[in-house]
Amino acid sequence: MTPDLLEQGARRVEAHSAVLTGLNNTESGGRNASTGRVATPGEVDVSHGRILYLEDVSVSFDGFKAINKLSLDIAPGELRCIIGPNGAGKTTMMDIITGKTRPDEGTVFFGSTIDLLRYKEAEIAQLGIGRKFQKPTVFEQLTVFENLELALKTHKGVKSSMFFKLDSQQGDRLAEMLVTIQLAGSVNRLAGNLSHGQKQWLEIGMLLMQDPKLLLLDEPVAGMTDEETARTAELFLTLKGRHSLMVVEHDMSFIRTISEIVTVLCDGAVLAQGTLDQVQADERVIEVYLGR
Ligand SMILES: Nc1ncnc2c1ncn2[C@@H]1O[C@H](COP(=O)(O)OP(=O)(O)OP(=O)(O)O)[C@@H](O)[C@H]1O
Ligand SMILES: [Mg+2]
Repeated sequence: MTPDLLEQGARRVEAHSAVLTGLNNTESGGRNASTGRVATPGEVDVSHGRILYLEDVSVSFDGFKAINKLSLDIAPGELRCIIGPNGAGKTTMMDIITGKTRPDEGTVFFGSTIDLLRYKEAEIAQLGIGRKFQKPTVFEQLTVFENLELALKTHKGVKSSMFFKLDSQQGDRLAEMLVTIQLAGSVNRLAGNLSHGQKQWLEIGMLLMQDPKLLLLDEPVAGMTDEETARTAELFLTLKGRHSLMVVEHDMSFIRTISEIVTVLCDGAVLAQGTLDQVQADERVIEVYLGR
């Protein structure tokens, strides 16, 4: 990162801060913050061909280096798969990107100008980074429609949700989303009555309603049936290009269906990177992860 880029970055960060301060000045105060979802996807400078950039990032927990000089970047519109053994640091990496965990050292940029280490978790969501945790977190007592509507409200930062009415464009988007996440036939069902896979799709739909630039998904197909997994693969392939995605998974057949570049993490750093065939043929990867 050149000094003038950093300076430009600092200026843009100031501008973003102003926007974010304004946003939080609503009656609801921390409502956006409390959901942790994307509210205002700002402009992200991807002119250098990277939407996410990590360099020499490290974090220790009680002296144990969970992330150890990790460097990685992701191109705009890319669907990057991350694999690696348990404890490799995959979830911790997502915690760092989303501001949940502060690294001890290193650089984390969103586009070439937004220094994510200067932001809090809720602000990072507002900048346009959505995150899907492993366990589905939908509102079980609300219908599928209401869940999606709520995501949109949160996105708009509406002062009082009582007075929120979908306009026709938003209604169209919501209808389109129902088709995308294959829940058009379940629009009035309570989210609590959906299958595990459907809940996962609903949550992904809620994140997408907020139009994130970058979406981080931690083990999205864990616990899904084979059919649900196949449908999820289809969904991710349709999202690629429109969003940048980082997908952590242990399910290799799922990875095979969706992957272009696969990054293998081990001991908090990148062990190997390439197509799935390339990394599967790598002796070091076989040794630590895939087995013989
Ligand atoms: N908050 C924390 N405090 C202490 N140790 C932690 C914390 N978060 C993660 N760790 C440790 O850091 C290491 C990396 O954990 P992490 O959850 O990132 O692995 P992972 O690659 O996501 O593994 P899995 O595939 O099992 O989900 C582990 O040894 C874990 O115990
Ligand atoms: Mg994990």
